[in-house]
Amino acid sequence: MSTSKKNAVSESEISVHWREEGSFIPSQAFIAQANLRDAAIFDRFSADHFPDCFTEYAELLHWERRWDQVLDTSNPPFWRWFTGGVLNASYNCIDRHLATLRNKAALHFVPEDEDEPVVHLTYQDLYVRVNELAAYLRFDLGLRKGDRVTLHLPMIPELPITMLACARLGLIHSQVFSGFSAKAVAERATDSQSRVLITADAYRRSGKLYDHKARADEAVELAAQMGHLIEQVLIWQRYPGHASSASPMVPGRDRVLGDELRAYRGRRVAPEPMEATDPLFLMYTSGTTGKPKGCQHSTGGYLAYAAGTARAVLDLQPQDVYWCMADIGWITGHSYIVYGPLALGASVVLFEGLPSHPDAGRPWRIARDLGVSIFYTSPTAIRALRRGGSDQPEKYDYSFKLMGTVGEPIEPEVWRWYFETVGKGQAVIIDTWWQTETGGVLTSTLPAIHPAKPGSTGPALPGIYPLLLDEQGREIPERSGRAANLCIRNPWPGIMQCIWNDPERFVDTYYGRFCRDRKSTDWRDWPYMAGDAATQDADGYIRILGRIDDVINVAGHRIGSKEIESAALTAPEVAEAAVVAVADPVKGRVPELYVSLKPGEQGSAALVARIGQIVIHEIGKIASPRHVWIVPDMPKTRSGKIMRRVLVALSEGRDPGDISTLANAEVVEEIRKLMG
Ligand code: WTA
Repeated sequence: MSTSKKNAVSESEISVHWREEGSFIPSQAFIAQANLRDAAIFDRFSADHFPDCFTEYAELLHWERRWDQVLDTSNPPFWRWFTGGVLNASYNCIDRHLATLRNKAALHFVPEDEDEPVVHLTYQDLYVRVNELAAYLRFDLGLRKGDRVTLHLPMIPELPITMLACARLGLIHSQVFSGFSAKAVAERATDSQSRVLITADAYRRSGKLYDHKARADEAVELAAQMGHLIEQVLIWQRYPGHASSASPMVPGRDRVLGDELRAYRGRRVAPEPMEATDPLFLMYTSGTTGKPKGCQHSTGGYLAYAAGTARAVLDLQPQDVYWCMADIGWITGHSYIVYGPLALGASVVLFEGLPSHPDAGRPWRIARDLGVSIFYTSPTAIRALRRGGSDQPEKYDYSFKLMGTVGEPIEPEVWRWYFETVGKGQAVIIDTWWQTETGGVLTSTLPAIHPAKPGSTGPALPGIYPLLLDEQGREIPERSGRAANLCIRNPWPGIMQCIWNDPERFVDTYYGRFCRDRKSTDWRDWPYMAGDAATQDADGYIRILGRIDDVINVAGHRIGSKEIESAALTAPEVAEAAVVAVADPVKGRVPELYVSLKPGEQGSAALVARIGQIVIHEIGKIASPRHVWIVPDMPKTRSGKIMRRVLVALSEGRDPGDISTLANAEVVEEIRKLMG
């Protein structure tokens, strides 16, 4: 990347270095059918029309009562969108479609095992199932608007059903990724004070049937140790009528939903009228400290933005079959499997398993058999499928009109394979940049309007005004190609409302650094800091360079290095722990863990294995370090700061560069030796 000068962001923080690529123009056939093919949308969403332009998204929804004010900015940075407006997300994703789409597939559930049949749920089916569960939650458990409910559900239809049942009642759902540990569930349930945990007994992944219920038992116990009582555990059976978990039911606490719901057949519950500003859900995400942040999303602004961007960016249309391969446990699944697409009445594929199981042809068989036309996934999945079978896509007769990528930077070489092989040289590609906090996509090409450029996400979406600030908070010239902190000047409807129960941390994390005046009530003084470094090319396209904080993007998933370090420190032998993000050909980045031991302790292969296990147990498999290195000491500056730059270089087998500022330079050679 010849244009990036070293100024705001140090080289070690920049994760991608590739040159500018040629661009790819969408076909006439694609343009002719697209939702948005007129660049006039950027005029409608010009800065002069802010914030009223966003009513265009809100009008995609059904409002019980229309809003009085589009945006209330009187108490920055607690933006309030569509105040006075009343709506229900479950009604918008289900009921309102029944008149015209009752018999249309809302969900195609594809079990991992290819011998199990695909389950097709129509909008009517979804309506029935969501109502029955909502009735049970309301009338049996007495849950009420504003109560929090923690979900730890795998990729089965009961996950969106449960989310929508919560939304119907105004319960705030907090889905924890199913791969996360019991401890992660306990922490999140405790933080959100959820007295109900909804889980499943089992799920399939990589050909195995996992006992998932056992983790709920452990989560309840851990929450109790944290001083929080989870009173009720509701269990969906992966195979209804059949228990797939060896873990025993705890009387009074555990209930099998299939059994309970028998008494609720045919029950209906009126959707709760929700203020636009009432929270819809929490999504916990890693930050710079060990404690995950509960990103709180609103009902009206979030849903409007998810629907509006799904229409504009993913080009969802009535005849499309749409497959987003993300897990609903992450924000991508919330916004672009559940809320956005269902609000638009789309047919959505829900896949339980690992895309490369039993072989790398599996996704393309699913695409062929269901007639998938839109496909959305992460660079990590693309890299893995390319490795596992780069010749597979051509063996299957399917045809994508559009393919998206999200979660991490995509290397131009991988982009080209995606385009030429997966997309068969026809599909339009979008590279969408956004975050848990942003609710929906912020930068991407609009597929029928802008050419796509490999390695670059594209311009900001309509109504989004990016701003690049250097370390001193000075605005760097637009389109200068210089690396800096990516910020957004203005609020938008999908932005999170707050960190659950921690407004101070919310203000500090996202606004503290670049707010021009904390007393100001003018939104212009409150740019949103994304925590990513980026450059803007001469054509206005934004390239994401990577996180500037201690968050590691492992296979497109955010893991806090502090979380891994705290886990390692629970091993009694460990004195110090440092995690670094190391380049990996498939996962983009992976964590490597360096630990030094307390005096008198001895390193051993068994200790290395045990520390690895602790991390998996405390956080989940995705945080598992590629290596645990037991070192005599950490390379440190004279002021005692661990030099992570040096550790990254050691892990990647590179020259650590100038180490003269280290207090203990000799340790670098010692570590290199022990790494072999
Ligand atoms: C990174 C996922 C490059 C970025 C929706 C961001 C990306 C973090 C892209 C958010 C992209 C996301 N290109 N990097 N297209 N999309 N990222 O909260 O570092 O799980 O800050 O949300 O992923 O991850 P999160």
